[in-house]
Amino acid sequence: MVLPMKVRIWEAGPRDGLQNEPGVVPTETKVALIERLVDCGIRYIEATSFVSPKWVPQMADNAEVMARLVRKPGVAYQALTPNLKGFEAAAAAGVSDIAVFAAASESFSRRNINCSIAESLERFRPVVEAGLAHGMRVRGFVSCVVGCPFEGEVAPAKVAEVAAALMAMGCYEVGLGDTIGVGTPTKIKAMIAACAERVPIAKLGAHFHNTYGQALANLLAALEMGIDAIDSSVAGLGGCPYAPGATGNVATEDVVYMLDGMGIETGIDLAALVRTAWFISDALGRPPVSSVARALRSKCL
Ligand code: HMG
Ligand code: MG
Repeated sequence: MVLPMKVRIWEAGPRDGLQNEPGVVPTETKVALIERLVDCGIRYIEATSFVSPKWVPQMADNAEVMARLVRKPGVAYQALTPNLKGFEAAAAAGVSDIAVFAAASESFSRRNINCSIAESLERFRPVVEAGLAHGMRVRGFVSCVVGCPFEGEVAPAKVAEVAAALMAMGCYEVGLGDTIGVGTPTKIKAMIAACAERVPIAKLGAHFHNTYGQALANLLAALEMGIDAIDSSVAGLGGCPYAPGATGNVATEDVVYMLDGMGIETGIDLAALVRTAWFISDALGRPPVSSVARALRSKCL
């Protein structure tokens, strides 16, 4: 087992986190959060999504967020684009990193993006082509890689098939989403092993929600398999509006604390990150769910 020396953290909080807030988070708070996260050393960040505002009103200010952000060079500010309409709006907003998002479960695909898996892949093809033609980086996601809120267990071979389709289309990396956080290390390893038969491991990322408190253990399993891209969410914000009961991604502070302790480099300043977790939690009126943010509060604030 050779663990990576360095890990790329994809910060998902401003998108995956805030898409799930019951109330409207002011645009200026979103922008301040993204800028603070970048100041912590984050270089890959999900900034917003160009999805239908009827489906996800929390992201309706996508263009405004992108316009107000003072973007730093060398930082990937990614936005979800489910179709060409979303792509065009993202391109007009000057987005350079887009992501398409498929699922390994038919029922989840229908609930989340209102089409079958096969239809979604057909819909993404021109989005990916347009993104590449515009010089954008295009990431892919597969949701429900272990389990689906409507169908139960999901077969690793199905996840591998969808991940391979996204790669074949031109995505440079595929984030494997345990959307409802039901994975355990053995299942995660089996799922990654199936994907790695079709997609190089260096092109796979771990996007684990922490609903059952398994995400850190699952991340360690993923690292042991050779994955070195981890999606996480500051303060453990979030969930998915179309996955009943799902909670946020594993908290970025918890991941950075674990990786710091293992001597694996992230480039992220943990104390600044803890302050940012409290900044957004105070703005939302509740404490962070992250153990590390709570444990380090008095030291860092
Ligand atoms: P639809 O209703 O089938 O789409 O939704 P449509 O093409 O029939 O359009 C319906 C209306 O939406 C029209 O407006 C369109 O113009 C508009 P109307 O004529 O009724 O006034 N519309 C748009 N507006 C703005 N931007 C767009 C857009 N597209 C259509 N891009 C659609 C299909 C995909 C649009 C919809 O289902 C949708 O937006 N879904 C997004 C759901 C979502 O954002 N889910 C959360 C993100 S995924 C996730 O969290 C999982 C992940 O984190 C990984 C993991 O954890 O597993 C990534
Ligand atoms: Mg997610």
